[in-house]
Amino acid sequence: MGVVDVGAGTGIETEVLVRESSVPVHAVEPCRAMRTPLLARIARLPACSRARVTVHPCPAEETGLRHVADLAVASNVIPCVPPAGRRAIWHAIANALAPGGLLLFDPPPAHPALPGRWSLPPVQVGPDVYRADVTSTPHNGAQRLRFTYRVHREGRVVREEHEDFTPWPTHPAVITREPTSAGLIPVPTPHPDLRAAVLPAWRPEK
Ligand SMILES: C[S@@+](CC[C@H](N)C(=O)[O-])C[C@H]1O[C@@H](n2cnc3c(N)ncnc32)[C@H](O)[C@@H]1O
Repeated sequence: MGVVDVGAGTGIETEVLVRESSVPVHAVEPCRAMRTPLLARIARLPACSRARVTVHPCPAEETGLRHVADLAVASNVIPCVPPAGRRAIWHAIANALAPGGLLLFDPPPAHPALPGRWSLPPVQVGPDVYRADVTSTPHNGAQRLRFTYRVHREGRVVREEHEDFTPWPTHPAVITREPTSAGLIPVPTPHPDLRAAVLPAWRPEK
C-alpha cells in the first residue's frame, strides 16, 4: 500500500525501500542539509521509481499523513530525538499507518555509553582522506557525542568541523509504553536490536 521512511536522512534506506517495493514511498526529512543527499540519491533512480517518492520537508508530526502506509521505518531516529519529540513521532506514525500496518525501528540504548574515543573508517577521495573521530563524554547527567571531521591532504589537515549529538538513553519499558499509548502494539522481532509494533485493525480514537 505504501511506505513511510521517518527521518530519511541521506536516503540510504529510502533507496532500498523504493527499489524493493512497487508502492508509494514517503521520505520524511526535516533537515535541509540531509535532504540534499536524499534528493541527489532519489534523482539517480529510474523515472518510474522516482515518481513513487514524496519528500516531506518537515518533522513527521507535521506531515498530516493519514492511513497511507502499511510499513513505517524509523532507522537510527528514535535514539536521536528528545522524549517529547519521540512521543510526537509515535502518534504521527500511528496516524500514517493503515490498520494492520507495521512499524520497524531501532530503540535507544538503555544506558549512556561509557566515556571513550573511537574513529570511523577513513575514506580516500582523490588526494584527500576524510576522517571522523568520535568522543563520548558525560554531559549534564547524560552523554555528549562529539564528531570531529577532518580532511587531510599530503599529511596536513586542510579542513576541520565539529558536530555534537546528544543520544537519549531510555529504559526499554518506556519504549514499549510510549508506542502503546499511541495505539501501536509491540510485536516480537527476530533480532534484539530491532523493535516492531503494529497498528491493530481497531484502535481507540483519541
Ligand atoms: C541519525 S539520522 C538517520 C537517518 C537515516 N534514517 C539513516 O539511518 O541513515 C536521524 C534523522 O532523523 C531526522 N529527524 C529528527 N527529528 C525528526 C522528526 N521529528 N521527524 C522526522 N525526522 C526527524 C533528522 O533530521 C535526521 O536526518
